[in-house]
Amino acid sequence: QKRDERTLKNTDVKVVDFGNAIYDHEHHTSVVSTRHYRAPEVILELGWNQACDVWSLGCILIEYYLGLTLFQTHDSKEHLAMMERVLGPIPSSLLQKTKKRRYVRHGRLDWDEHNSSGRYVRKHCKPLKQYMSSKSTEHEQLFDLMHKMLEYDVSKRITLEAALRHPFFDPLKGKKK
Ligand SMILES: *[C@@H]1O[C@H](CO)[C@@H](O)[C@H](O)[C@H]1NC(C)=O
Repeated sequence: QKRDERTLKNTDVKVVDFGNAIYDHEHHTSVVSTRHYRAPEVILELGWNQACDVWSLGCILIEYYLGLTLFQTHDSKEHLAMMERVLGPIPSSLLQKTKKRRYVRHGRLDWDEHNSSGRYVRKHCKPLKQYMSSKSTEHEQLFDLMHKMLEYDVSKRITLEAALRHPFFDPLKGKKK
């Protein structure tokens, strides 16, 4: 049955809706981004810059890969717990700095794996590499890139410029548009 098949004839991308776009020197509201793509530093209200867009794009890349939203939640604390499940513990340096004290307990994310939201997170999320559907070089490189985009530490997160130079994109080099 071909009922639901669609063929894309034009792959041009149109970038729209700059409603929240600002310059570096302008006032940064404490919270930005669409919830599911929101970076940890935004949720923890540690201040943000362009790097939060790299995080968002990382979430969107894996969503393209899976056909599912990686962080499917409407609650910020549960969102952070999902990040820990996928990417490992949030660095204590970030948790030490946050004013959102209700997220933190004894220097760690205040989380209970055994209550209903804890079980939801365990069921719906797993460590990043376990989402790979193939061990081919192309998949390995995509996951390496996504892992670098989903880096907790803003100063270590890959920049957009560096992301474009990542080996995942090498096969596109030399190809005419
Ligand atoms: C589960 O426990 C965490 C950590 O104590 C808490 O933040 C969360 O609200 C709890 N969720 C439910 C549904 O009880």
